[in-house]
Amino acid sequence: MELKGCIFDLDGVIVDTAKYHYLAWKRLAQELGFDFSEEQNEALKGVSRMASLEILLAAGGIKKSEDEKTILATRKNSWYVDYISRMTPEEILPGSIILLQNLRENGILTAIGSASKNAGMILDRIGLTKMFDAIVDGYKITRAKPDPEVFLRGAKELGLEPKYCIVFEDAVAGVEAALDAGMICVGIGDKNRLGKAHLVVSDLRGITIEQLTKL
Ligand code: G6P
Ligand code: MG
Repeated sequence: MELKGCIFDLDGVIVDTAKYHYLAWKRLAQELGFDFSEEQNEALKGVSRMASLEILLAAGGIKKSEDEKTILATRKNSWYVDYISRMTPEEILPGSIILLQNLRENGILTAIGSASKNAGMILDRIGLTKMFDAIVDGYKITRAKPDPEVFLRGAKELGLEPKYCIVFEDAVAGVEAALDAGMICVGIGDKNRLGKAHLVVSDLRGITIEQLTKL
């Protein structure tokens, strides 16, 4: 492919915020009187805040009104924000900075495509805001992954057609969104889960532009 832009999911690709999301969801579950396992948490990766809450409540067999759901989601988010407000650049996942620098030095545009409404704050905390030509977060989209909206918006903000873009994703819903957007997708994580991606690696370490253009 002719590579002109790379769009990165944030949570689980550039930083491991999944652990903070999990801590906050688990705390909410415990308050509601049930346990929420790390395995159950897998289903929340890449999923929007409200959709995540629905999955959590279903796991606990609990029904809540729309108003109560808003309160619960807000409570979870305040714990989560408390965790991420203490993040430092040391939490940037291995290989991220080198890859971003390499892409930018070679004229390849970079973007964030995240469902999170906290993406801007996380990027500020870890000092990476300036490494991206476009940042698409949960405030800019109306349809969550697996809908391709977030990545199509990313390509648009970069001024690129989808076929020139590669998406980096750790969530099954995100891989589906990337493919649906007509983009090449690199899965970050487990091959068994992310098998639909064009390439699956365990992290961003050692990824070269030459390797990407062969996809
Ligand atoms: C990302 C994460 C999800 C999270 C979603 C919304 O996609 O992978 O786990 O639920 O963002 O994040 P927010 O920070 O807006 O609650
Ligand atoms: Mg993710």
